[in-house]
Amino acid sequence: MNTESFFRTALFSVVSALVLSTSGAMAQPKLSPDNIDEVIKAMTLDEKATICIGGGRAVTTGGVSTGITDLVKGAAGSTRKIERLGIPNTVLADGPAGLRIDPTREGDTKTYYATAFPIGTLLASSWDTSLVEQMTAALGNEVLEYGVDVLLAPGQNIHRNPLNGRNYEYFSEDPLLSGKMAAAYVRGVQSNGVGTSIKHYALNNQETNRNENDAIVGERALREIYLKNFEITVKESHPWTVMSSYNKLNGDYTQQSKDLLTTVLRDEWGFDGMVMTDWGNKADTPKAVWAGNDLMEPGNVVEKERIIAAIQNGTLSEADLDRNVKRILEYIVKTPSFKGYKHSDKPDLKAHAEVARKAAGESIVLLRNEGGVLPIEAKGQKVALYGESIVDFVAGGTGSGTVNKAYCVNMVEALTDAGFKLAPSIVGFYDEYVKYNDAVLALSGTQRTYRYGISKFDDPSVPRSAIDLHANNNDFAVVVLGRISGEGSDRNMDNDFNLTDIERQLLSDVHSAFHALGKKVIVVLNIGGVIETNSWKRMADAIILPWLPGQEGANAVADVMTGKVNPSGKLPMSFPIDFMDHPSSSDFPYNQVKTNTPFGTARAAGSHEKDVDYTEYNEGIWVGYRYFETNGTEVSYPFGFGLSYTEFTYSAPVVKASPEGGFTASITVRNNGKAAGKEAVQVYVHAPEGGMEKPALELKAFGKTRLLQPGESQTLSFKVSDYELASFNEQVSRWETAPGTYTVHFASNVRDIRQSASFKIAKMKTFPVHEKACLAK
Ligand code: BGC
Repeated sequence: MNTESFFRTALFSVVSALVLSTSGAMAQPKLSPDNIDEVIKAMTLDEKATICIGGGRAVTTGGVSTGITDLVKGAAGSTRKIERLGIPNTVLADGPAGLRIDPTREGDTKTYYATAFPIGTLLASSWDTSLVEQMTAALGNEVLEYGVDVLLAPGQNIHRNPLNGRNYEYFSEDPLLSGKMAAAYVRGVQSNGVGTSIKHYALNNQETNRNENDAIVGERALREIYLKNFEITVKESHPWTVMSSYNKLNGDYTQQSKDLLTTVLRDEWGFDGMVMTDWGNKADTPKAVWAGNDLMEPGNVVEKERIIAAIQNGTLSEADLDRNVKRILEYIVKTPSFKGYKHSDKPDLKAHAEVARKAAGESIVLLRNEGGVLPIEAKGQKVALYGESIVDFVAGGTGSGTVNKAYCVNMVEALTDAGFKLAPSIVGFYDEYVKYNDAVLALSGTQRTYRYGISKFDDPSVPRSAIDLHANNNDFAVVVLGRISGEGSDRNMDNDFNLTDIERQLLSDVHSAFHALGKKVIVVLNIGGVIETNSWKRMADAIILPWLPGQEGANAVADVMTGKVNPSGKLPMSFPIDFMDHPSSSDFPYNQVKTNTPFGTARAAGSHEKDVDYTEYNEGIWVGYRYFETNGTEVSYPFGFGLSYTEFTYSAPVVKASPEGGFTASITVRNNGKAAGKEAVQVYVHAPEGGMEKPALELKAFGKTRLLQPGESQTLSFKVSDYELASFNEQVSRWETAPGTYTVHFASNVRDIRQSASFKIAKMKTFPVHEKACLAK
């Protein structure tokens, strides 16, 4: 090139650059982490609105091609691409217990199975944040390697009531345990360079009429119970995204609440990621944009049109839209899709199955072990197994929390593998029963929701004396009680929380037949939520609670039964004596006829009629053990309860007021028994009189020892700040830590306090909230 043509070309480039930069939509910058503002300037209004709506449920929505089918089949959603600006699609997929994508695909011989890991409730039962982080690091690797950018998890709504159909996805009735578990979960997944979406923010504590239900909640309960866990997770783990819930809170849809999505989430807690809606389209999209709900999922062009119209008629400011677009682009530049990551579609499923088995084993709760019946050495022992779940073991719940796994080990396989001998006739019987039942269900097109598990024992034409329980030919019995529940409907009090008559009969028959011969009965609870245990637990010598432990969970149960794993899980919620003992039960829509979802079934007669348009959280902060411990209500199993095959002693603790406020503490735990084991130590605080009314005990910290050999000790340390001790005073709208003497209890469960010490706070400490926050109207 000669000098003249060089200058001509250079001049042309300068002029073109000037023209493009002043002509807005004509400019074609390509998105990079450094030019987001420039890209926004170059976007047309149509493009800005487009980027705020997800890719839709289908290939094309209203004529806009989403490219979703080119992405990952079976993924729940996507973000849209704008090719001219170098903005790619990104992929969002469920869910908490493993990646939910299509495992097999038309015209494709490859398979895309994901690992079914233990559910959230089981993870919380571990009381072990590092275990959770390790497990979710493996889960996040599947997200990355299957080409997904964000895992729509973890779910962290509070277990307000045992009947919420989705409790299985969630962690606990306690906000600290829930918040810490979710933070560990997020850290594990995000260590792979993919995102998470903590959900459902907030108050999605029931499934009945979940799209329209208005949660009427006072600000203290909101701040201390229902938002606290999200606050902890946001502050400690920086999730890429938050998912707003379907329901309303005090009159506003949460996805349209500026107080919730901007003032509290961002301005108070410092969240700097993207907010997306749960998978539903609400009428007032511009209000959601204004409130700070950046992305509408799954996305519908109607929403785009509403945004455009609102900007054009001046009811929505372009600055609000630009702010949301910016957050979406900031998310996009972090994704593997943007970075062009070449996923393998070949995560190491074998290695991850091992991770799942370990996580389940370390979290299983041993509820009962009379006379040390467990562990049982497998060799030579003959076992009679009862219950539909012995062959059809429940790995996880239904709805978006489902995982398309390659297999699920059942109890028959797991116990056989562990070296037990099983009575073939009983196994054959349940096998046939499950097949028959599945065929009936397939014909009627219904989905099985409960696993009563017993069939033959239900047949009134069969005389009870004719039922052979095989007690003579077996050394002991295992009865597996199963339950499955999930998205879209809540559980019932009758025949679900409470056992069915058939289950009760079976337990009683097995108990009589085996105990008459001096043989033992073990019950395994393969359940997604709390059930009634008090009326029947004495019929069992041992009760093992694996919840829904994923595809390897039955192996984990065998590991615990045989002592290969010493159980160290503890309950993340209370097991009440009666369903109605929970203050929230009187306002929970149990046994409802009215439900709004495809999964909902007509409820039994005698339903507890209640207007499901709203739910009043009249119990305030008195959720779970906060109520039971303060009120002195008996429970079947207390919060934090779980047995071990060994014994631990707690030394005198050291508790000191900390110069920065709050306290520091340490305690040494010694394994005084004969088996190696781990202990989860729970730190509860009792606040001084004179301040606000407080629960008798509140969990303020916890820690788990490593595997301690007999005779071995470990010192655990804790640090709790003033702010973490505070309660929310609605009258003056601020957090307050009262002065006085605080008692710090070190406990094995909330009713088994081993050591206590105290420290003093000299002066009242106060913590303002954002001046504009107005959560309770
Ligand atoms: C569920 C979410 C889920 C989404 C996408 C919704 O119905 O409530 O938890 O992430 O669907 O599948």
